[in-house]
Amino acid sequence: MILIITIKDDIHAVTIRNTLKGKGYDDCHIIECDQLTTTNRVMWRNVNNEENAYLYTSDGISINVKEADLIWWRRVRADQQFEFEMENDHQVKLINNDCRGSLGGILESAFTGKWISAPSATDKAANKIYQLSVARKCGFRIPDTLISQSQNEVQEFIDSQKGKVIVKPVVGAAGPLMFTTFMDDARKTDPASFRVCPAVYQEYIEGTKHIRLNCFGNKSYAAIIETEELDWRPNLNVPIKKWDVPDSLHKKIRKVLDHLGLAMGILDLKITPEGEYVWLEVNPQGQFLFLEPLAQMPLASIFSDYLLDEASGKELKVLDNAELLMGENIS
Ligand SMILES: Nc1ncnc2c1ncn2[C@@H]1O[C@H](COP(=O)(O)OP(=O)(O)O)[C@@H](O)[C@H]1O
Ligand SMILES: [Mg+2]
Repeated sequence: MILIITIKDDIHAVTIRNTLKGKGYDDCHIIECDQLTTTNRVMWRNVNNEENAYLYTSDGISINVKEADLIWWRRVRADQQFEFEMENDHQVKLINNDCRGSLGGILESAFTGKWISAPSATDKAANKIYQLSVARKCGFRIPDTLISQSQNEVQEFIDSQKGKVIVKPVVGAAGPLMFTTFMDDARKTDPASFRVCPAVYQEYIEGTKHIRLNCFGNKSYAAIIETEELDWRPNLNVPIKKWDVPDSLHKKIRKVLDHLGLAMGILDLKITPEGEYVWLEVNPQGQFLFLEPLAQMPLASIFSDYLLDEASGKELKVLDNAELLMGENIS
């Protein structure tokens, strides 16, 4: 049995479950972690030294957690979606904390199968500062980077980089996408804007080749997005081509993911005009299905096979009957 823990209406989850169904596998269930307060309730019981844990799926089926072979720990940070208005903030916080805590605790205690990827590793690895540090120690070139809240420090950094510096969020927030932008003069921005929270100030990596790389276990599948834009995400109407990942690059990435404790990772890299790979970030649970129509890569099928493989240990062939999906936020 495969469980996907995610938010309601997650296109990736629904597509993978449907793709698995198309391959004849019916035992994949979605647990909507933001619906625990309404429909997807949980139950854990420890009576007479016997422990039992049940979850309700998005289809209203009760499943025994002990029977699950694999959990795809996909999108788990969301708050509960309430059916009616709460009286106060404290109630909302309590419900969110206790729903999240119960789901996490139940899975950590009762589930004995394979995590894609483990919750603690997923949390830790999602931090850009930590992953930059690990990637560098594993031999990747990373851009010179400053995390700061001081206008002066940022200006000094810009001067040291000869003016070519970008800024982007450390963690970001749900809602509108925040694109990477150039910052050529920190003095033009109010010092209070720097102070309000740290941000990533980074050496600009030259070139027009942006790599989106999906590492699923022991295989990597990538596309090159060719664009003059600083950040490739606002305009996908540019050449996007499947790219065969050199084995040496895959191995280096696997080394970083192993250090981070991640089974999979969705990476952003850049190739310099000299051909050097520069690490930008790994999203432990990034979006990858948008590449299916854009680069003609059967990623829904590939990823479904990866899950089946991990859940059962069997070799499975790749089919290409996946649904083509676009339009989700990419980070
Ligand atoms: N230092 C950099 N130099 C050049 N381009 C960058 C740099 N950092 C980010 N970018 C561009 O912006 C995109 C988004 O940045 P990324 O590091 O993936 O952060 P996030 O997706 O969390 O905003 C990258 O894929 C790349 O196109
Ligand atoms: Mg990114």
